[in-house]
Amino acid sequence: MRTVVSPATLYRMKRDTVREKDRMDAAALCRGFDLEGAMNEPARTLRIDTSVNAEAMQAEVPARQNLVDFLRERLGLTGSHVGCEHGVCGACTVLVDGAIVRGCLMLAAQVDGCTVQTIEGADASGRLATLQACFHERNALQCGFCTPGMLLTAAALLERDPAPSRETIREFISGNFCRCTGYQAIVDAVQDAARRTARAVDNAAVGMPALANPAPDNLSAYNCAVDNHAADNP
Ligand code: FES
Ligand code: FES
Repeated sequence: MRTVVSPATLYRMKRDTVREKDRMDAAALCRGFDLEGAMNEPARTLRIDTSVNAEAMQAEVPARQNLVDFLRERLGLTGSHVGCEHGVCGACTVLVDGAIVRGCLMLAAQVDGCTVQTIEGADASGRLATLQACFHERNALQCGFCTPGMLLTAAALLERDPAPSRETIREFISGNFCRCTGYQAIVDAVQDAARRTARAVDNAAVGMPALANPAPDNLSAYNCAVDNHAADNP
C-alpha cells in the first residue's frame, strides 16, 4: 500500500535532515578543538612599551582593548572622553607621536613604541594655557564633554598654522562634535588664541616681558599690560 506523506510532513522531514546534517558538519569541524576551553580562555594580552604624557611605562594589555579605555580605566586619565565609540565625535582625541588620533579606533597594543599625549599631559605642560584662557573668556564650552578633544585639536592646528582663517578652523575642528555650545564661540576662541600668541611673540621681539600662561584669573592684568604696551609702541 502506498504511503501518502503530506506536504507539511515532507517539509519537517527535510528540515530535520538538514539540521542533523548541519549538526554533524559542525561536530566534524570542531573535532579535536576544545570549544568549551576556547570559550573560557581569558582574553589574550600583549606587552607594550610606551610613554604616556612623558612617562615611560610597560603594560600588559588585552589584545582587543582600545586606547581610550586603556587610558581611562587602567591609567585613570579620564580627560579623554568616550562618546560615539566609532570614530565620529572626536571626544576621545589624543596625540600619538604628535598626530591626532581617535582613542576609540586605535588599540592600546598599537601604541607599543609610541608616545601618547592626553589632555592631562598637555595641560600640565602649559601648552594649552592660552587656548584654555580664550575658551574661558569666550564661553566656548558648556558641559565640557567635547572640550579636551577640541583643545588638543585646536592646539595641533595652531602648531601647523599660527594664523588660521575662520574657515580653516571650522574645517580643522570638523571632526570634533560639540553638542551644546555651538561652534561660533569655539572658532572665536581659537582665533583669539592665535592672535594672542602672535602678540606675545611680537612683544617678546621688542623686549616686553612675557606673562606666562595667561590663565582666567590674570587675564585682565595680561590684557591691560598688552594694551598699555601697544599704546606705548603703536
Ligand atoms: S568616542 Fe571616539 S570618536 Fe567618538
Ligand atoms: S561643550 Fe558640551 S558638547 Fe561641547
